[in-house]
Amino acid sequence: MKIFDIDPAEHRDAYRRQQWVSISQGCTSEFLDYLQAQYGRRREDEKLFDVGNTAAKDQYRFEPPPDTDMCGELFGLVEGICQTKRSTMVLSERHVNRYLDHVNPNPPAHKDRFATQIAVGIAIEVPEESRLVMYPEDHRDVNPYGMSAEYRASLPPDELPEVVLADSPSIEIADRPGDVHIFPGSSMWHLRRAAAGTVVLYLKCNDFNCDPLGEDPSSAGVRASTEAVLGAADPDLTSAVPALSRRLQWVARLAGRDGQERPFAKLWQEEPFAVTEEELAIVRALEHGSGRLASAGNAAGDQASIVGLARRGVLDLLPAPVI
Ligand SMILES: [Fe+2]
Repeated sequence: MKIFDIDPAEHRDAYRRQQWVSISQGCTSEFLDYLQAQYGRRREDEKLFDVGNTAAKDQYRFEPPPDTDMCGELFGLVEGICQTKRSTMVLSERHVNRYLDHVNPNPPAHKDRFATQIAVGIAIEVPEESRLVMYPEDHRDVNPYGMSAEYRASLPPDELPEVVLADSPSIEIADRPGDVHIFPGSSMWHLRRAAAGTVVLYLKCNDFNCDPLGEDPSSAGVRASTEAVLGAADPDLTSAVPALSRRLQWVARLAGRDGQERPFAKLWQEEPFAVTEEELAIVRALEHGSGRLASAGNAAGDQASIVGLARRGVLDLLPAPVI
């Protein structure tokens, strides 16, 4: 089933100019029918209690219908409109959001988690008063955290969105079912006004290989091929290329009360754990700017560090370099 009915070339200039686009009836009628049949009603048994549900909305992991090239279509659309890099793109979220009846009709703006470089929203049900509101021009810092709430909690009172956006120009979209919105979710303040009863599918992605929730259908395969290399008693790395794993959140030196700094690594949604200085050096060698991947060194010590990091999920071992 085809998801989008959009020619990216028609929207590229608008996106470059205004940093968002809203495309009327951008999804196919067949796909909208599927979404309304599957997610137009409550599905208590499928709520995502761990990663998405809040006081404002229920969330469900979207499962595409058979014969749907979800990632292929999404990545082609986002590359074509937003000019992101296709070869390193991953899906970071595929949630249906259902806003609850008692939701605050005027919530503060938020920024999506770090992995949401680009958010693609497909409206499924939209009550008459519901509005998508975005602030495209001001305060475009990226949320570096794993959750919207963490970012908000990190801000001093005078940098909260309800303060800094008081005089900022906003865009208010009165959308209809089938409309498609594309915007940089982690860097653009946005909100859903009068959201009660609104149902939206959000497909979120980035081009820096970051999938904290493991929602890209290919992520399990990437990890499985890493495990296959690691399965040998003496793992052979000659045909494997180390890369930062899709679940790595950060590495850093932390200072304890004894005054000593020690290196740690953290995976999304997990506690930090200690790594060695050699392992830290490997991760740093693999970090190129915004997460681009490159080959690490090949010294024997490096090999041991790479295996150790891969076993703990900090690195993946890929069959070919991601460029
Ligand atoms: Fe959002």
